[in-house]
Amino acid sequence: MDYTELFYPARFAVGPGSVAALTEFAQNRELKRGLIVTDRTLRGLPLMERVTAALDGAGVRYEFFDGVIANPSAETADAAAAAFAALNADFIVAVGGGSAADTAKAASLVAANGGSARHYIGVNRSLRPGAPVAAVSTTAGTGAEVTRFFVLTDVDRRGKAIGVDDHCLVALAVSDPLLMTELPADITAATAMDALTHAMEAYCAVTANPFTDGLALKAVGLIDKALPRVMKDPADVAARTDLCWAASLAGYAFSNSGLGLMHSLGFSIENFTGVPHGQAVGMVMPYVLEFNRRAIGERVADLGGVCGLSDHVTLGVRTVRHMSDRLSALPIPSLRETGFAVGDIPALAEMALNDPTLAANPVQPSREELTALIESVYCEELK
Ligand SMILES: [Fe+2]
Repeated sequence: MDYTELFYPARFAVGPGSVAALTEFAQNRELKRGLIVTDRTLRGLPLMERVTAALDGAGVRYEFFDGVIANPSAETADAAAAAFAALNADFIVAVGGGSAADTAKAASLVAANGGSARHYIGVNRSLRPGAPVAAVSTTAGTGAEVTRFFVLTDVDRRGKAIGVDDHCLVALAVSDPLLMTELPADITAATAMDALTHAMEAYCAVTANPFTDGLALKAVGLIDKALPRVMKDPADVAARTDLCWAASLAGYAFSNSGLGLMHSLGFSIENFTGVPHGQAVGMVMPYVLEFNRRAIGERVADLGGVCGLSDHVTLGVRTVRHMSDRLSALPIPSLRETGFAVGDIPALAEMALNDPTLAANPVQPSREELTALIESVYCEELK
């Protein structure tokens, strides 16, 4: 058997004002009681009124679960599922970035299947489709609104616990740039780097296919043009809209293709330093791209091509330089600036070598190669 299956969310609304799609979604499905899964800060922001207004428009009664935290655990999702049961709710509205979406997706499985979110870590552990989830993104990056993954933190083992489940795909994904114009610059930059690395890794993965190639290349080109504009003018709605498209395109792409060493290292750096995911994958991006370029020069050159670079002979090299320059312009710390201890490089390499995302990387690094790569990240020397 050598065929490819693709996964989609059921509905997808993107663009200024698209939060209004919640109204029709609830009406069509005759949903009456919603649990808004979010964090305490977002709950108090004016953007939440746009979400509740859309629910009011459908006559939905709602309550809040505002216990979402950065790097949520299974306990976070279980608490959301308990709130869902207490409300006797019939759907979840996740409002936030990846943490809110992941909490909601795991909670939806618990709501429909019982037990704890811990039981759904692994591949397709649930028997029944989760409770319906509408995911309203307040960042453009994670792609969690369109993937069949949820990432929780395993508090005991100091690592990530990942669920892959066909039953946790969100029923409606909303990406409304009007909810993102107040986003702080560091979060805009980090989440965009997350989306960019999703697209790059999906395109370079050994599991890439024509469907994901198209999505990934389009996402890279959109981010390359839109991100500098948004960093200059956070209220540039047209550029924010392009980032919304790109984040979801990249989410579709890696969900149906794979990731790679940027994420193997990024997840491991998060564990060591506690920096946000987008910063962790961003700070290693050009170094991994250079490492992979030696094996898949043409693919890396393609990434530069969609950024408007030309001159095919040196395009791969110039693509790495271009991405490095892009990163330097962003408020993203270097590995050294995170406080990472140089003596931890061997342990970081070991953790990254054991990360499951490494399997799809186009080159499998030896321990020595990976250690040298991390040293170049630490010294900020592209070799
Ligand atoms: Fe990511």
